[in-house]
Amino acid sequence: MEIKKRFNIFCIFAGQNLNSSSMKKILVIGACGQIGSELTPALRKVYGTDNVVAADLMYPLKGDLADSGPSCKIDATNAQDIADAVKKYNIDSIFNLAAILSAKAEANPMLGWNVGIGALLNCLEVSREFHCALFTPSSIGAFGANTPHDKTPQDTIQRPQTIYGVTKVTGELLSDYYYKRFGVDTRSVRFPGLISNVTLPGGGTTDYAVEIYYAAIKEGKFTCPLKPGTYMDMMYMPDALRGTMELMEADPSKLIHRNSFNITAMSFEPEQIAAAIRKYMPDFKMDYKFDELRQGIADSWPNSMDDSCARAEWGWKPEYDLDAMTRDMLEVLKVKLAK
Ligand code: NAD
Ligand code: SER
Repeated sequence: MEIKKRFNIFCIFAGQNLNSSSMKKILVIGACGQIGSELTPALRKVYGTDNVVAADLMYPLKGDLADSGPSCKIDATNAQDIADAVKKYNIDSIFNLAAILSAKAEANPMLGWNVGIGALLNCLEVSREFHCALFTPSSIGAFGANTPHDKTPQDTIQRPQTIYGVTKVTGELLSDYYYKRFGVDTRSVRFPGLISNVTLPGGGTTDYAVEIYYAAIKEGKFTCPLKPGTYMDMMYMPDALRGTMELMEADPSKLIHRNSFNITAMSFEPEQIAAAIRKYMPDFKMDYKFDELRQGIADSWPNSMDDSCARAEWGWKPEYDLDAMTRDMLEVLKVKLAK
């Protein structure tokens, strides 16, 4: 990636507002979710508030998302909704975040498939017709029980047994197909569990790693839905936002892979996140009451991914480890939950 673009993206985390030259008119679909509610403002800081359109099935949008730039209603399972917005706002880049997360999708597999794949196919077709770049996240959920669990390679066995995982593997294949067959600029990462403090997660298997911080501040204790020793990859939201923008600005000639890159920042099991919280809140207590569905899904996912291809091909590098994230989460939530 050019030094100037990397600098611009870096600057949003320093609170500066600079224009980058690559993506000019951006559509974020699923803008109200855990990622979209933070990615949309981050993109607006870099590319300008009027150049980033926030769209969701939930409409009208509320708060800052609605006030700080253009917005519209999109049902991503309806291709016409997406095409209308792309034409109206002259969009050249789409961030497709519409999906049903792992545990929620397992409770309603048809919905998981229809949103995960319906939205993606519509985005791919609209991107092909209107020459848009397209980012659609994949997940650690794209792996399964017979994938190597430690240092999970970039290219390996992918036989997930959840509907969420099936949509993610299908999505990776479809996105690569549209790139190779039609030249659509599709790019993607396999996000690990994302930890954040703006919008609560939408029904995934890694949600416990967000909920534990809220519970620590509100009640000083937490009942963990996963068993001790359940390792999964995780990442703090600022790293996820920066990685997303860096990949979309990366020099395409350097990309050997596209859909999707392993990226990770840390791997821990419940006792380790509890211990990290106890460093700042020594009286914090945790017990266990495991949830069979989530435990089964978590057991089939990697313990820790190898993200060396993302590091080599577009310079991926996380900034937050478990301790830095815990310090920040507790500081932010203390203020937020006191209101
Ligand atoms: P989320 O559930 O928090 O948000 C999804 C958003 O999509 C919601 O605002 C919802 O209203 C919207 N939506 C649902 N159906 C829609 C439709 N038909 N049309 C338009 N909008 C619709 O999800 P998220 O955590 O923000 O995840 C975004 C993407 O990142 C998903 O593809 C998810 O699989 C992936 N991902 C997330 C995580 C994580 O930890 N959050 C980890 C790995 C991958
Ligand atoms: N956080 C997501 C989930 O648990 C991972 O894709 O579903």
